[in-house]
Amino acid sequence: MSRARRHHARRLSAIGLLLASALMAPAHATPPLAPDVDSSALPAIADREGETNPYRNDPHAITVGRAAFNQSCAVCHGIDADASRSPAPDLRRISRSCGRVPEPDLKHRCQTDADVYFRSTVEKGKIKLGVEHMPPWEGILSTELIWAIRSFVEAPGGSSR
Ligand code: HEC
Repeated sequence: MSRARRHHARRLSAIGLLLASALMAPAHATPPLAPDVDSSALPAIADREGETNPYRNDPHAITVGRAAFNQSCAVCHGIDADASRSPAPDLRRISRSCGRVPEPDLKHRCQTDADVYFRSTVEKGKIKLGVEHMPPWEGILSTELIWAIRSFVEAPGGSSR
C-alpha cells in the first residue's frame, strides 16, 4: 500500500470509530435534576391513578409548577416555557388546540388525552433508538409536581406570568 493510501485508510477507520462511538453514546446524557421546591401545600390528590390533571387552573399549583419547571425543564424547554430559542418542543402547545373545541365532552376528552401523554412522557422520558432525548423523571418528580408543572405550562398567559 502506498503511503497516501495508508494514510487514507487510517483516516477512514478513525472516522468509523468516531461514528461508532457516537452511535453507542451512553443513554444518560443529561442527568435529570430534582427541583428544590416546597410542594407540601399542593392539594392532596384524591385519585392517584386518575389520568387527568387534578390541579388545572389552581393558582398555587401554577406557582409551584413554574418554579419546578424553571429548575428542571427550562434548560431544554426554555425559561418560563418560552421555547422560541430552545432545542426541545414548546410544551405550551400540547393541548392548546383543546381550548378551541366548543363541545364540552370532546374538549374534556382532548384534555384527558393530552394529560395522559404529558404524564407518561415525563415519567418515561424520550429515548429513541437508544439515544436519550429527554431523561425519564419517574422517581425524581412526584405525581403532584408533574401535575403542577403541567398546570403551569397550560396556564393562559404561559410565559408572561
Ligand atoms: C435534556 C433536555 C431535556 C430536559 C431537561 C427536559 N426535556 Fe422534555 N423533551 C426534551 C426533548 C429533546 C424532547 C423531544 C423529544 C422527541 O420528541 O424526540 C422533549 C419532549 C418532551 C415532552 C413531549 C413534547 C411533545 O410535544 O411531544 C414533554 C411533555 C416534556 N418533554 C416534558 C418535560 C418536562 C416536564 C421536563 C422537566 C421536568 C422536561 N421535559 C425536561 C428534552 C428535555
